Amino acid sequence: MPLPVVDLHPYFITYDEVEGVIDWKTFFGNDHPVELDIGCGRGKFLFESTLAHPETNWLGAELDFKEGRRGALRIAKRALPNGRVIGGDAKDLLAKKIAPHSVAAARVYFPDPWWKTKHRRRRLFTDEFANLLAQVVMHGGHVHSWSDVEEYFKVISALMNNHADFEPMTPPEEPEGKDDLDYLTGFHRSRKKMGCAIHRGLWRRR
Ligand SMILES: C[S@@+](CC[C@H](N)C(=O)[O-])C[C@H]1O[C@@H](n2cnc3c(N)ncnc32)[C@H](O)[C@@H]1O
Repeated sequence: MPLPVVDLHPYFITYDEVEGVIDWKTFFGNDHPVELDIGCGRGKFLFESTLAHPETNWLGAELDFKEGRRGALRIAKRALPNGRVIGGDAKDLLAKKIAPHSVAAARVYFPDPWWKTKHRRRRLFTDEFANLLAQVVMHGGHVHSWSDVEEYFKVISALMNNHADFEPMTPPEEPEGKDDLDYLTGFHRSRKKMGCAIHRGLWRRR
């Protein structure tokens, strides 16, 4: 018999439950800066950031509800007020539910590469997505993106480096990976353990 689905409100809500454009002060109950973790997966980065940085509000967006709920559960268990996950397509979320220039940073770690040529159009990072990032990130805010897939990272870099609204910055050093907290995300950990090189990008919204 399938296990009953635990109610994780307000730590996990679906895109359809978000009414209109999110008012961050109402959503988080304060006016601290908001950072997005787009495609947060099972939420290692989101949970650890929520715990370590209570002065920032962290919102994960995740298409796969099961994965998104795993991250939200960790936040819910500690009743952390500054972390939330929205289940749904991040592109719709950015386009329709997030006010222009209202987030301090967007993080897109290890977006799915969709290796097969016929699946490439499913990739998250496109012209349209870069425009959505420019729309929601505040002036002076940042976009971070890491990938182990060199070819995809080149595409991401080209989109961002050539975008009129962004300027490339030097990304922070990659942690050495001595203990679990040195890995940024679940994918970072698994790819480092496989010996993959990690490509890191940081851009500032003009
Ligand atoms: C390769 S995983 C990386 C997960 C996590 N960022 C990490 O580094 O461990 C990519 C994640 O992005 C999610 N994803 C893909 N397209 C998405 C979209 N349009 N909106 C939200 N999440 C998406 C996938 O469901 C998956 O969990």
